[in-house]
Amino acid sequence: MISLVTKKPEKYTGDLVAFFVQQQEKGSPSCTNMIVQKSIDRAYAAGDFSGKEGQTLLFYPESDSEIITKRVLVVGMGKEELTRESFRKAGGTVSSNSIKTKAKNILVVVPEKLNFDTSVMSECLAEGLLLGAYQFHKYKKKEEDNDEPGSLEKISLHAAKSSAARKGMKRGITAALAGCAVRDMANEPGNKWTPSDFAGFGRRLAKKYGMSCKVLGKAEMKKNGMGGILGVNSGSALPPTMVILKHQVSKKVPTLLLVGKGITFDSGGISIKPSTGMDEMKYDMCGGAAVLGAMQAVGEEKPKSLNVIAIIPATENLPGPAALKPGDIISIYGGKTVEVLNTDAEGRLILADALAYGIKKFKPDAVIDVATLTGAVVIGLGHHRTGLLTTDDSLKDKLIDAGERCGEPLWQLPLGPEYSKEIKSKVADIKNLGNRAGGTITAAAFLQEFVGDTPWAHLDIAGTAWGFTEKSYIPKGPSGTAARTLIDLIRNWK
Ligand code: BES
Ligand code: MN
Ligand code: ZN
Repeated sequence: MISLVTKKPEKYTGDLVAFFVQQQEKGSPSCTNMIVQKSIDRAYAAGDFSGKEGQTLLFYPESDSEIITKRVLVVGMGKEELTRESFRKAGGTVSSNSIKTKAKNILVVVPEKLNFDTSVMSECLAEGLLLGAYQFHKYKKKEEDNDEPGSLEKISLHAAKSSAARKGMKRGITAALAGCAVRDMANEPGNKWTPSDFAGFGRRLAKKYGMSCKVLGKAEMKKNGMGGILGVNSGSALPPTMVILKHQVSKKVPTLLLVGKGITFDSGGISIKPSTGMDEMKYDMCGGAAVLGAMQAVGEEKPKSLNVIAIIPATENLPGPAALKPGDIISIYGGKTVEVLNTDAEGRLILADALAYGIKKFKPDAVIDVATLTGAVVIGLGHHRTGLLTTDDSLKDKLIDAGERCGEPLWQLPLGPEYSKEIKSKVADIKNLGNRAGGTITAAAFLQEFVGDTPWAHLDIAGTAWGFTEKSYIPKGPSGTAARTLIDLIRNWK
């Protein structure tokens, strides 16, 4: 879907050629291509195009022009210092504009004179192009002859330093396809993406990349005393699954455990949610999807310096006749008891089983869980940052840096005994509900009860998994967030 070419852009016969230019302090933005430069100069003189970030100029070369493509798109990159994000956004802008014009085959010219590493430019452009080209039309029939958007079929990247460009492009493609896989899973509605679909996806990854995959079913969960996931599952007609996927290198390198919340639909259970907007709770599996998306990239790249194990506990949360009831007491893997005061605080119950089990079984050197865990994080951070809660400074630094590089920024919230005290129960070891105030923190404090001394970080993606910050390469629905952060973290693990 995306490949590298060295043939001159002037000779490209496809639907569109895209160039990038920087805004100047004064005067017209400059482009390496002289024909394109003439149009830029005219557009600049007319006051239509200055090269501001996200600004575009589209023109249709004359039939006798020295450039033979149908359309030329020039994308402004502003005058601020260029970053990875500038190139992702520029790539996304090319994709969305190509889709608008119905161009299918496009050539993207990696700029030569921008004083930026070719490999990184190619990586981030490829990432932005693919993430920005994402569409989900699986359940909607194409109507003929109307104004529906087109779709991209083939993207070519033109770069001078082709070996550096190739390396970067490959990394960008891997990360983008992981993000798109997450979006695909999330876009499937609750009746089409069920716990057994997580198992199927895990098994397919294992087969394709030579990883090992084990799926715990209800019987094994019972044997293991996983009262959290079984409790949440008891109101559903579909059996739960717990997918365990392993990329194992050697005992000599550290092991990272990733855990993702896979609630394929969250009605709230007996503590049922209001009906308005409840459909969005089909996205309550985005943490599990992000972890599997990251594992797809792990399968592609097979890092040698890290074992990576993923666990996705998956079930629906529905109020069937056998459902958990407020006041019920359940027992999590390892024996800790929980008083369930609100059946809508279900994510922490299934994550508790997965965290306790994964830590006991695999003795990881670090654990990261990813979950659409609390509405409170949306109140606190809005839709622009993922909540980060951790007890480990080194994990914190790694995650903050990774998020920064990926355009998926995190913000740390505290933990501490004051918060942990809120989840003490009179009748069980702990309860699944703290005060309304600080809900994201007490939810994390609950998880903290199950990680012991293992360095652990929790990402609350309830605000960012969908409706994330508007950007050229982020669609309106599910964003695919956290997969690329985890991939970057793994790539840069030290
Ligand atoms: N899946 C929800 C959290 C959520 C809410 C995600 C809104 C995205 C948008 C979670 O299971 C939940 O229901 N949490 C409750 C916890 C409360 C009952 C303590 C919440 O946040 O209201
Ligand atoms: Mn819930
Ligand atoms: Zn939930």
